[in-house]
Amino acid sequence: MPRFEPHPERRPALVTGASSGIGAATATALAMAGHPVAIGARRLEKVEELAATIRAGGGEAFAHSLDVGDSDSVKAFAAAAEEALGPMEVVVSGAGDLAADRIHELDSDGFLAQVQVHLIGAHRLVSQLVPGMVARTRGDIVFISSDVVRAPRTRMGAYVAAKNGVEGMARAMQMELEGTGVRASIVRPGPTMTGMGMGWDAQTTGEVLEEWVKWGMARHPYFLRPSDVAAAVAAVISAPRGAHLSLVEIQPEAPVEKP
Ligand SMILES: NC(=O)c1ccc[n+]([C@@H]2O[C@H](COP(=O)([O-])OP(=O)(O)OC[C@H]3O[C@@H](n4cnc5c(N)ncnc54)[C@H](OP(=O)(O)O)[C@@H]3O)[C@@H](O)[C@H]2O)c1
Repeated sequence: MPRFEPHPERRPALVTGASSGIGAATATALAMAGHPVAIGARRLEKVEELAATIRAGGGEAFAHSLDVGDSDSVKAFAAAAEEALGPMEVVVSGAGDLAADRIHELDSDGFLAQVQVHLIGAHRLVSQLVPGMVARTRGDIVFISSDVVRAPRTRMGAYVAAKNGVEGMARAMQMELEGTGVRASIVRPGPTMTGMGMGWDAQTTGEVLEEWVKWGMARHPYFLRPSDVAAAVAAVISAPRGAHLSLVEIQPEAPVEKP
């Protein structure tokens, strides 16, 4: 008798923030690995486009609008996704955005907005989808965190606070879920070339980069590709039952110098 039932054949996966960057790459990678995927973001046309591409490649995909800042929207997405694809075996919490403000210059509504999307948004998913996983005694929930939890950066303090909250919540969940068969995992990417930060003006981008260099960050020019982070998520959820990749940090390698 195996100590754990293997993963089921069919493992529907729900991915938030799937209209761009890491979420879109993760949805693509999971679909290519055979997972039916439910994908959501505020830009419905983008997730519908991605779902069409996945279906054209032979995969199964369901797209729905989603605002993780709104509890009703999360409930509607989760319910529609399970109606379309069946109970979710995998949930990836990837939705997020980033404001380039110093904490003392940011008004509290702006601070709250970052906490809303990253932390409360992740909790909205947990409260909708993890009870079903516990009842089925299996499932994976993956939180896309950030290496700012290990090494905070300037000009994104609300984001740093929110991501610390996400990891704190995930670690408490790991304890609470022990023995349920449900794995809560943290994937912590370093700098990744996505839509994030692309809305900053050139002056802000220049100032932020200078500050990061001053504090010993941005030591080389290479960024991760979204597909690199997606591969880490795929590894986490495909770990055999009985083994839990509870925290995976992924960093871009530096350019290789000739010896
Ligand atoms: N890029 C990096 O260097 C980096 C490093 C570490 C961690 N991360 C994390 O990776 C995750 C994905 O970010 P990314 O880098 O891939 O950036 P991105 O390309 O800007 O993607 C962010 C995604 O989140 C969605 N989103 C934002 N607000 C949302 C909301 N209220 N409800 C639903 N979806 C929302 C966006 O879609 P819509 O605008 O269509 O809603 C988009 O699909 C984030 O959690 C981020 O913190 C990124």
